[in-house]
Amino acid sequence: MTEPGKPLRLSRNLISEAGIGIAVVALANLGFLIYLDATRANSNPYMGILTWIIAPAILITGLLIFFAGMIIERRRRRHLAPGEIPEYPKIDLNESRTRVILVTSAVGLILFVTMSVIGSYQAYHYTDSDAFCGTACHKVMYPEYTAYQASPHAHVGCAQCHIGPGAGWFVRSKLSGSYQLYSVAFHKYPRPIPSPVQNLRPAQETCEQCHWPAKFFGAQLKVFNHYAYDETNTPKEVRMLIKTGGGSPQAGQTSGIHWHMNIANEVTYIATDRQRQVIPWVRVKDRNGVVTEYKSTESKLTDAQIATATTRRMDCIDCHNRPTHIYRSPDRAVDTALLSGKIDKTLPFIKQQAVAVLAADYPTTDAGIAAIAKVLPAYYEKTYPDAYKTKRAQIDGAVKSVQDVFRAIRFPEMRVDWRTHPDNLGHFASTGCFRCHDDQHVSKDGKKISKDCQICHTVLPETNTANPAFEHPVDIGDLRGVNCADCHTGGGM
Ligand code: HEC
Ligand code: HEC
Ligand code: HEC
Ligand code: HEC
Ligand code: HEC
Ligand code: HEC
Repeated sequence: MTEPGKPLRLSRNLISEAGIGIAVVALANLGFLIYLDATRANSNPYMGILTWIIAPAILITGLLIFFAGMIIERRRRRHLAPGEIPEYPKIDLNESRTRVILVTSAVGLILFVTMSVIGSYQAYHYTDSDAFCGTACHKVMYPEYTAYQASPHAHVGCAQCHIGPGAGWFVRSKLSGSYQLYSVAFHKYPRPIPSPVQNLRPAQETCEQCHWPAKFFGAQLKVFNHYAYDETNTPKEVRMLIKTGGGSPQAGQTSGIHWHMNIANEVTYIATDRQRQVIPWVRVKDRNGVVTEYKSTESKLTDAQIATATTRRMDCIDCHNRPTHIYRSPDRAVDTALLSGKIDKTLPFIKQQAVAVLAADYPTTDAGIAAIAKVLPAYYEKTYPDAYKTKRAQIDGAVKSVQDVFRAIRFPEMRVDWRTHPDNLGHFASTGCFRCHDDQHVSKDGKKISKDCQICHTVLPETNTANPAFEHPVDIGDLRGVNCADCHTGGGM
């Protein structure tokens, strides 16, 4: 019991005591976690969530419970003994206890505010970091993160493309991020994560921080190295000048691939599928305001449907939809491994076999890895017993390299691969540019969106011919009449 006239402190109640207990434990943990975070060079993303989000949240909850307990206790006592507790606290600076309490509270408050500021800044930084974006939800974004790390943008932060500068998009991204954390925690996420990203920030505001259309002019050389599906894995090199100009009216170049992005031109289109692969209607407004509408002769869209359909203004992402999460096809990935010598080119039919085993479907990554270790040696043992004996090292090396390729391009757990995320740049293993450039999109006055093989690139003549057009290795007739992706599926011949 207390002396009369000196009431028990308001904080002496179960709720507040529990609150302070929680806060003290959280504070001790937070201190320890911050110490770990500061001393370990390679911090793990889950640690970041604990240190900068969960521990502070528990600390603040503890403090809130503490104050809530005091308020409840105060109400209870005022109710029990009206008059015992005055409406407002009496502050008498002549009492040394009051002075001590006041100074301690002030110091505590300043410390708390400072720590919150530092903490929020850390939380802000941390939730924008690549490790957080790419690995905190490890399994979910594993494919995106893996592809990203092997891409030209491996050193560009996730946030630079997905959020960009400015507070508005930052808040939007954190809101949708909270939902994503929830969906990961409760296994509600879709597999694969759907693409295209519906609310991606317009590319002009992100990509153009580093690349801008006015810079595009002229052409650039690109070499494509292929290996045939035959016994000798015959190499075929295609060297092309890709006409990437067209972005800048000032530079005098108004034609070329980046013509679409010339600020003065406005290309709008309708897609009838979620992945924007089927495009029956395209509209161009050029810099003089002249409007041309192209409609696919294969489309059954009526004028009324066109008038009400959602349109999209073309931007960088309509061609560069895979600038960093590039899911290469088995065909292309094996070509690269052969070119770099990671897979031995002298193994008969290795291109064909490697692509076949990589393109098959497996329930898990481990199942795929195991299949590769079994299928490839078994093939040589049966079909090329001599090679199996004399080239054991090369075969084992090929198995290891093909397994590495598998881990880089196939993600069975998330159901992600080159077919679920087709690349729109080009037209080899997906429709890409030919979604519009197919000679089938015609305007009222008969103009077509051209499939002329020379408008986008010129093939440099091979050393043994003088022909600047692309020569297809097998005769399939007029190339302009075919769709490359119909045969070149990326998963074998
Ligand atoms: C160079 C810019 C860029 C960077 C850097 C980048 N992304 Fe992307 N990301 C994109 C684009 C473009 C898309 C696809 C947009 C579309 O098709 O609508 C995309 C799509 C995605 C998707 C949806 C699934 C898919 O593959 O289309 C996820 C998830 C994603 N990114 C996560 C990340 C993470 C995590 C990082 C960092 C590790 C990152 N991104 C870095 C540009 C970027
Ligand atoms: C923070 C700066 C930055 C941002 C933002 C950025 N990029 Fe890049 N981009 C780079 C750098 C750096 C390179 C690599 C240049 C090199 O390797 O020579 C590059 C290379 C490229 C390339 C050439 C790739 C290749 O195969 O060599 C393309 C295409 C490209 N970016 C498109 C995009 C698109 C589309 C976006 C928006 C979704 C984007 N970039 C956003 C910095 C950026
Ligand atoms: C009717 C099916 C078919 C169509 C359509 C087709 N190709 Fe091919 N293509 C083949 C065959 C078959 C080969 C030889 C495959 C082999 O033995 O490697 C081949 C080989 C190639 C090669 C040599 C590399 C390789 O994989 O052997 C290139 C490059 C190529 N085609 C490009 C194209 C382009 C570009 C288009 C579209 C304009 C196209 N093809 C359309 C069937 C086709
Ligand atoms: C009509 C399709 C298309 C659009 C739209 C487009 N690009 Fe490209 N871009 C290409 C093609 C094709 C290449 C050649 C790339 C290759 O062959 O690897 C290219 C090349 C590039 C390159 C590398 C070569 C260079 O000249 O530096 C960058 C960077 C680039 N684009 C950025 C952008 C940005 C940023 C935007 C949006 C403002 C954009 N592109 C819009 C098709 C497009
Ligand atoms: C959404 C439809 C669409 C897509 C997808 C598309 N284009 Fe175009 N492209 C057009 C239209 C429309 C024109 C203008 C045709 C005209 O009016 O002459 C055009 C014109 C061009 C031109 C000629 C520019 C000039 O006047 O010199 C080039 C080069 C070009 N596109 C390259 C590409 C490449 C490369 C891709 C794929 C990476 C691509 N386009 C994808 C619609 C598209
Ligand atoms: C609208 C523009 C456009 C048209 C029309 C076009 N191409 Fe291409 N083509 C491209 C682009 C862009 C690439 C480069 C893709 C990349 O960088 O991955 C390409 C790549 C290629 C390649 C190399 C593919 C590879 O992966 O090895 C061949 C071969 C080719 N084109 C042949 C043709 C032929 C033949 C035609 C005529 C039927 C044609 N192209 C028409 C834009 C076009």
